[in-house]
Amino acid sequence: MGNIVLLDDLTINKIAAGEVIENPSAAIKEMVENSIDAGATSVTVEVKNGGKSLIKITDNGKGIAKEDIPLSIERHATSKLKQIEDLEKIDSFGFRGEALASIASISKMTIISKTNDDLTATKMVVEAGDILEISEDTGKTGTTVIIENLFFNVPVRYKFLKNDATEFRYIKSMLEKIAISNPSVAIKLINNGKEVLKTSGNGKLEDVIYVLFGKRISQNLVKVNYEEEEIEITGFIGNTTIAVDSRKDELFFLNKRFIQNRTLYSSADEAFKGDAGIGKFSFAIINLKMPPSFYDVNIHPTKKEVKFKDEALVYRVLYTAIKNAVLSKEFLGNKAIEENKEYVNSEFKYVTNHFFNFDNSKKDLETNNTNSIESNNNDKVIKRENARKIDYKFIRN
Ligand SMILES: Nc1ncnc2c1ncn2[C@@H]1O[C@H](COP(=O)(O)OP(=O)(O)OP(=O)(O)O)[C@@H](O)[C@H]1O
Ligand SMILES: [Mg+2]
Repeated sequence: MGNIVLLDDLTINKIAAGEVIENPSAAIKEMVENSIDAGATSVTVEVKNGGKSLIKITDNGKGIAKEDIPLSIERHATSKLKQIEDLEKIDSFGFRGEALASIASISKMTIISKTNDDLTATKMVVEAGDILEISEDTGKTGTTVIIENLFFNVPVRYKFLKNDATEFRYIKSMLEKIAISNPSVAIKLINNGKEVLKTSGNGKLEDVIYVLFGKRISQNLVKVNYEEEEIEITGFIGNTTIAVDSRKDELFFLNKRFIQNRTLYSSADEAFKGDAGIGKFSFAIINLKMPPSFYDVNIHPTKKEVKFKDEALVYRVLYTAIKNAVLSKEFLGNKAIEENKEYVNSEFKYVTNHFFNFDNSKKDLETNNTNSIESNNNDKVIKRENARKIDYKFIRN
């Protein structure tokens, strides 16, 4: 007799949950993203015991239609993707149709939802993936999801959760990132009955930064605003006064999704070089907006990693965006470079050629060594000119 068996649905969902839902914060992230995908302008998250005993998420989004409510916890059931080609143009957070199925398989979940078209709300109670109850309920248009006893049937995972305070810190930090990348959504977080985070949802990133990081940071910001080849880069960088020793306040968002990506870090490092202070990292909140066809987000279920199709292009555009801000009056005081664009382009050419192609670098330096930047007579330019001479010698040797 053979040994291969088909896994049952509950087992499949629990395995899928293991990949994405590693802690309460990950479950909340999935649900808040669902709220934003549903067009919510207000999302309230309430937790108890670091989200272990209770998570409650209330939104004012478009709701789930009555007949769709049981489907919402089916695996691979999604309203956001119909065929694989859609992945190229998808702009929602979700598309895998797995999050609710996964979370419902490892908790007791109650969904109460109402659309504008339905006269009443519908309530569904699910435990370990089994629907226990579907009934009519009262409530406004929108969705409330309550999760009790997350991981109650996954003791191995439960055992590895951190203490309540630490799990809460993860939740808060994750929610802050969602608030930053969605200034038009009013986000509220309530911990054990106490309000700990509240953004206004007025659409202004600077106001979110003020709420999250305080007055000192928000008074030392320089605006980033640059667009090239369908890549739009906006946000704020901090001037040298608020540079810190770690990368913790250098945050990148791609089409509203918080991402960690080496190309972005190294491009930013290069653009800040010499300007954040030695060994220091600038405060930076950078939003990148580009067509979904420019990258692949489907390389890991948590969607935190992305692969850019043209890494060099993203590197260059981000570099130029940050460098422009670094060279602006607000950053440098009255020492701003007048011909920013030309200066940045020539410096970028130098930097990339130097790192990626020594032969070209040599050619470039020979032909371009006396280009536009020498007309700018300030410290920074002189510094860079010297650097060129030193490197040129190095290449010749
Ligand atoms: N807060 C909400 N408001 C409105 N609809 C919702 C909400 N939460 C879930 N849904 C509906 O339930 C479906 C399933 O949600 P689920 O999170 O499991 O999948 P998804 O968001 O489509 O994909 P992913 O697994 O990548 O998150 C969604 O496609 C959406 O139609
Ligand atoms: Mg989802």
